Amino acid sequence: KKTIKDVDLKGKKVFCRVDYNVPFDENMNITNDTRIQATVPTVTYLLEQGAAVILACHIGRPSEAREDKFSTKHILKRLSEVFKQDVKWAPDCVGPEAEKAAADLKPGEILLLENLRYHKEEKKNDPEFAKQLAALADIAVNDAFGVSHRAHAANVGITQYLESVAGFLMEKEINFIGKTLEAPQRPFVAIIGGAKVSDKIGVISNMIDKVDTIIIGGGMAHTFDAAQGLPIGKSLCEKDKFEEALAQLDKAKEKGVKVVLPVDLTIADKFGADANTQIVDVDKVPEDWEALDSGPKTSALYSEALAGAKTVIWNGPMGVFEFDAFAKGTLAVAKAVAEATKNGATSIVGGGDSIAALKKTGLADQISHISTGGGATLEFLEGKVLPGIAAIADK
Ligand code: 3PG
Repeated sequence: KKTIKDVDLKGKKVFCRVDYNVPFDENMNITNDTRIQATVPTVTYLLEQGAAVILACHIGRPSEAREDKFSTKHILKRLSEVFKQDVKWAPDCVGPEAEKAAADLKPGEILLLENLRYHKEEKKNDPEFAKQLAALADIAVNDAFGVSHRAHAANVGITQYLESVAGFLMEKEINFIGKTLEAPQRPFVAIIGGAKVSDKIGVISNMIDKVDTIIIGGGMAHTFDAAQGLPIGKSLCEKDKFEEALAQLDKAKEKGVKVVLPVDLTIADKFGADANTQIVDVDKVPEDWEALDSGPKTSALYSEALAGAKTVIWNGPMGVFEFDAFAKGTLAVAKAVAEATKNGATSIVGGGDSIAALKKTGLADQISHISTGGGATLEFLEGKVLPGIAAIADK
C-alpha cells in the first residue's frame, strides 16, 4: 500500500480520516485517548512536511438529530493538548462553513471537522457526499484502521475523487496483523476469550486454519464444555451454538491444532463482586453455581501453552475481570503473553477488554502491538478483506 512517505505533502491540504471514536464519562470527559495518541506520528509528520491537516472522524452512532454528545467539539481541547497547538474547528464536515475553514487553513495548521455521521450519507457511502468531502483537500490520508470494516464515504467513497494513502497507524496495523496472519513465526498460539461464541466463531475458525495451538477461554468456553456434555451449572451458555462449537473442535482435530479449554474454574453463587466463590474442576460445577473465571490449574496450562511461542494473538478476556475476584485468569494470560514477548514472540492484542486487562497489570508496553480496532480487528482476524484497507492506493 502507498503511505504518506510515498507522496509529496508540501503545501498540500490533507483530508485525514482518523478514528477518534473514544469513550467518555457522563461529564463528557474522555476516559481513554489511546486512539488520539496513536495518530500523533501521522499528524506530526504531515505538519512537518508542510501540509495543512483536516481531521475527519465520527463519534458514536448519532442520528440526523445531531445529538450534542456526539459532537467532535468534545475532543477539541484534548487534540490541542496532544498536538501541542491550537486546533481549529468547523461546525460541519461539508458545506460553506467547512469549505471556508478548509480554504483558510495554512500549512502547519490543524482543522477538526464536525462528526461525519451527522450526515447519513457518510454511512451510505453516498458519492455526492464523498465528492464534497474530497473537495476540501488535495489528498486523502487514511489513518482510521478502526473503521476499516466499514465502507463509508470518508474512507472508501472519497478515494474515487482523491488519491488515498495510508498513515503510519494504518500501516502499522496492516503490517502487524496482516503480515502476521500471512506468514507467522511458529509456534503460533491464539488466545480467544469473551462471553459469546456467536461473536467469535469467525475468528476461532480462521485461527484454527493458521495456528498451532488455540486457547479458548472466557464465558464462551462453557458453551464448548456443555456441547461436550460437561455440567456447567448456571454459567453462560449458547445452546444454539453447540453444533458449531463441536464442528470447530472437529476441525481443529483434523488439522492437528491443539485446543486448550479450561480444566478448572472459579465459580460463584451469584453474578457480582461480593459473591461466594469456589474453585472446582471443570467436571464438578454444581447446578446452582456459575463460572466467572478460569482457575489456577488452567492459568498454569495457559502459561505452558504460551511458553516458547513465536507468535501470539490475544482477543477477549478469560473471565469477568471487571470484578477483582474474577480477574485472575485474565491477568495470568496478560502476564504469560508479556513473558512470551520478552522471550522473542511477536504479540498482538486486540479488543477493549484484553487491553483494559493489560493496562491493569501495567504490562501494556511489553506487547509488540496493541490494535486500536474493535470490530475492525475482529474482522481482520476472521480473515476478511477490509474495504477501508482495500480502498487505499497500491504502490
Ligand atoms: C469502533 O469504535 O470500533 C469504530 O470507531 C467503528 O465504529 P462503528 O462500529 O460505530 O462503525
